[in-house]
Amino acid sequence: MDIAITAMPTVCSAPPICCPPRQEFRSPLQGTDRAGPGAGFLMPDAESLWALRVFCCPPGRQVDHTGRHMKEETHMQVDRRKIIIIGAGHVGSHAGYALISQGLADEIVYIDVDRKKAEAQAMDLFDSTVYLPRRAIVRAGDYSDARDAQLLIMAAGPLADMSKGETRMDTLGVTVAILKPILEQIRTSGFSGIILSISNPADVVAHYIQNQLDWPPQKVFSTSTTLDSARLRRALAQATGVDQKSICAYALGEHGESQMVPWSAVTIAGKPLSQLRRERPDTYGKLDLDAIAADGRAGGWTILGGKGSTEFGIGASIAEVVRAVFGDENRVLPVSTLLNGPYGQKDVYASVPAILNRDGVAEVIQLDLTPEEQAQFDASCRVMDENYRLALAM
Ligand SMILES: NC(=O)c1ccc[n+]([C@@H]2O[C@H](COP(=O)([O-])OP(=O)(O)OC[C@H]3O[C@@H](n4cnc5c(N)ncnc54)[C@H](O)[C@@H]3O)[C@@H](O)[C@H]2O)c1
Repeated sequence: MDIAITAMPTVCSAPPICCPPRQEFRSPLQGTDRAGPGAGFLMPDAESLWALRVFCCPPGRQVDHTGRHMKEETHMQVDRRKIIIIGAGHVGSHAGYALISQGLADEIVYIDVDRKKAEAQAMDLFDSTVYLPRRAIVRAGDYSDARDAQLLIMAAGPLADMSKGETRMDTLGVTVAILKPILEQIRTSGFSGIILSISNPADVVAHYIQNQLDWPPQKVFSTSTTLDSARLRRALAQATGVDQKSICAYALGEHGESQMVPWSAVTIAGKPLSQLRRERPDTYGKLDLDAIAADGRAGGWTILGGKGSTEFGIGASIAEVVRAVFGDENRVLPVSTLLNGPYGQKDVYASVPAILNRDGVAEVIQLDLTPEEQAQFDASCRVMDENYRLALAM
């Protein structure tokens, strides 16, 4: 935890999370005589704050000449960032690696019907931590481990069989059958944290879990088109030559065939793509937007067909969402969340840009869709709603 020690103050100079009432003092380290909130210390990054939620001092606690708390008064309570991953397959293992290699978890516990596989994945990942920047514990466990976990990642479920032309939605029946006993065990485990659902069909499964567990909707959501949006940005980068990190573009609706791209909201360096197309008819104007959207949408199938699984992209997407949550970042990512009002929808999970923080989905961002885009989004939501009703009847 990155708290600078000031030379002079005689009262605690730790961050606001530690000492809400502000103290006035000089900060030689920052070379400033600012006073008031935030003055005189280096803010620890939000990630570390979550990792080490320190409740240490009543207002005005005395510190010694080095700025440290007087020893007899020091007491700390530390919350570890513990994550349960259900399903130790391709997604679960890559999510685990993305999380520990980016220092986003202190402990990861794998649960899988195949206990040997869970143990093997955990051991393999734990070995890797020896050479990773931050330490973490990775192990196999059971549902009793969920009681004090902050986050649970649902990654159990079958893959669509491409040889039979199956879509993600076609796996719904098998996924629901797998989920039923899992949800029963989560219900009785004492877990009360955030559920990040990955199993496909992602949006319908997230809604099903929320309903069956009667979980607060903001605390159960899916990465859903976080991954499709990455694929879309990759496709746009390849078509324009502009780096994907400089492109803001979302795939919305379903993590599946009915997803849509609100082109009216795509920007490059803050400039609307529609404007760029008017200004530069010979370059941006020639982009085949339908082909780019199809390229992004088909990304999962291209990867699945080539190697039998998709894993790195979803692993990175999961880590990105978890960073936003554990870091309390108020970061906007497209995730599948319960819509009741926004986008004119009612009681349906669909992917939209949302603000994520330690409470989960804090707020949905309502984009100004064109009438045509709204119709595409509505159609995608209808697909998810119909399948959700089917899931409830299973
Ligand atoms: N949302 C996304 O972007 C995205 C991306 C890729 C995959 N997926 C989905 O994630 C799921 C997993 O994909 P994968 O490639 O890791 O598959 P996988 O077959 O490699 O792994 C699935 C794991 O789930 C385990 N499992 C099965 N039943 C279980 C149960 N009752 N309890 C605990 N574990 C159980 C299996 O033993 C296996 O280890 C699938 O539903 C897949 O469609 C979603």
